[in-house]
Amino acid sequence: MIKNNKKWMAMALLGVTVVTMGMIANGIAKVTKGEKRPLSTENWMEHVVKPHCKALKEEIAAGPKTDDDWESLIEHAEILNETSYILMDDKRCPDAVWANAATKTLRNGSDAVIAAAQAKDAKAAATAFKGMTKSCKECHDKHKEDH
Ligand code: HEC
Repeated sequence: MIKNNKKWMAMALLGVTVVTMGMIANGIAKVTKGEKRPLSTENWMEHVVKPHCKALKEEIAAGPKTDDDWESLIEHAEILNETSYILMDDKRCPDAVWANAATKTLRNGSDAVIAAAQAKDAKAAATAFKGMTKSCKECHDKHKEDH
């Protein structure tokens, strides 16, 4: 009986150890920044990605009319497009989900917004924007913790 208890204790201890190690590994795996450069992913998201994405959304909803309106769309989309490269730099990218969201969904989506704005096609711009923003959820679902 005592012997069995010891065995059970050892098993429980092993279980706790495995779970703890998993949590530590998970904490390390969380992508907060790249390897050498100081920029945190959170900082870029909050101060670059979010405001440009929001501006793009509002300007598309308002309906661009003048050349300056269309040019503004292109400028926001260019910055989001460049983000698709920055997110891959400095060993920031941890896996295929991240890579696909950045280099396919965000990059191609922002390219399509630029093309639509150059053609002054509001409907195509709205569709492209919708496609581009799929990248946010695609990456966040796996890599952004809900606080
Ligand atoms: C390839 C991955 C990836 C893509 C694509 C991506 N994000 Fe993020 N985003 C992250 C990660 C990782 C975090 C969490 C950073 C942290 O808390 O350390 C984050 C956090 C954020 C935050 C919270 C920042 C804060 O202040 O805590 C916002 C806002 C955000 N992203 C907006 C966006 C929008 C809008 C898009 C789409 C246009 C987008 N992101 C696309 C990876 C991505």
